[in-house]
Amino acid sequence: MIVRSLQLEGFRNLATQSVELGAGLNLLHGDNGQGKTNALEAIHLLSSLRSFRACRLREIIGHGLARAELRAQLTVGRAPLALRLVLEPGGRRTWLGERPARDPAEFLGQLQAVAFTPDDLAMVKGAPAQRRRFLDRAAFLLQPAHLLLARDFSLALRARNRLLRTGRFQPEELSAFSETLARLGAELTARRRACVERLGPAFQRVCGELLGRPAAAGLGLQAGWREAGGERGLLGELQAGLERDRRRGATGVGPQLDDLELGLDGQPARRFASQGQQRTLAVALLLALVDEVVGGGAEQPVLLLDDVSSELDAGNRRRLFERVGALAGQVLVTTTDAGLLGELRGAARVFEVRDGRLLARQ
Ligand SMILES: Nc1ncnc2c1ncn2[C@@H]1O[C@H](COP(=O)(O)OP(=O)(O)O)[C@@H](O)[C@H]1O
Ligand SMILES: [Mg+2]
Repeated sequence: MIVRSLQLEGFRNLATQSVELGAGLNLLHGDNGQGKTNALEAIHLLSSLRSFRACRLREIIGHGLARAELRAQLTVGRAPLALRLVLEPGGRRTWLGERPARDPAEFLGQLQAVAFTPDDLAMVKGAPAQRRRFLDRAAFLLQPAHLLLARDFSLALRARNRLLRTGRFQPEELSAFSETLARLGAELTARRRACVERLGPAFQRVCGELLGRPAAAGLGLQAGWREAGGERGLLGELQAGLERDRRRGATGVGPQLDDLELGLDGQPARRFASQGQQRTLAVALLLALVDEVVGGGAEQPVLLLDDVSSELDAGNRRRLFERVGALAGQVLVTTTDAGLLGELRGAARVFEVRDGRLLARQ
């Protein structure tokens, strides 16, 4: 899958412009605050309808403007596809070609992109929610139905928590919510586990490549409930925890507490790996996902790497870019480091990003 061109209007600090991207590696170079991350964010938004920054959609609209509009021309397989997204203070609207999208789910699957930002470098040690987000994104790319399951589960969880907080409900009413939650929850964890098992071998391989040595790297899923009991077991745990949940106004057991564990050389990486190794493992996780998606016969998602190289040491960084340069699909890399331009001489396209403009160098 390739983003051939991108039209931007009213998006953060980016000027109104049309950008032709290369099919392979694209390097966005420029000083801080010029708009490199914003450009990647625009593509990510067309992919997931969410920013990779914690922000409200309306903060994305350029200061003083009433709306932002993004368009992208894609090549999917051999077929062209145009996407359009309009952001206004009241909400967002989406189109596939000339036709308004039926619902967000229809739009979401179209442009597949995976982003990696400096925040993701903290994946190994960061909050579990970050790893769950990665896992659900991964499971979605490997199996699109995962999106609806994850969404339904989170709606059911919110509904149960809301009821718990009101404190006013009939026991049967809460049971109905708990049953739904147990059914969706057991399936959600099972799908996440399948995803982790699929990614494991690729993760091990990529870790070795990035670390430059054979590495016993592994992935494990720590479920937020006793998985062996299955759906009925989860329902039992929900019922047994009712008093606690009622006091807290939140559900204390289930996939909302699942966690992904990364291991290196037989030890939990969170506790034993050096900071540099943890960063490398985090990037390896993403590259493992890309490999696995492609290995499954799907097209490579567009890979968005924001400023990651500055945080890696020289050897890891060189191996990372060798690895990324060898990918067949489209990659966008941002950097403030002019040295990287030299290292990536084979880059298909180099853009200088200055004051909200992407200027093609070649
Ligand atoms: N809604 C907005 N409207 C206008 N400018 C914005 C908006 N949001 C962020 N910016 C500006 O975008 C610039 C940061 O762009 P960014 O892509 O993060 O830079 P970098 O090139 O360092 O990655 C900052 O100058 C910031 O003030
Ligand atoms: Mg940036």
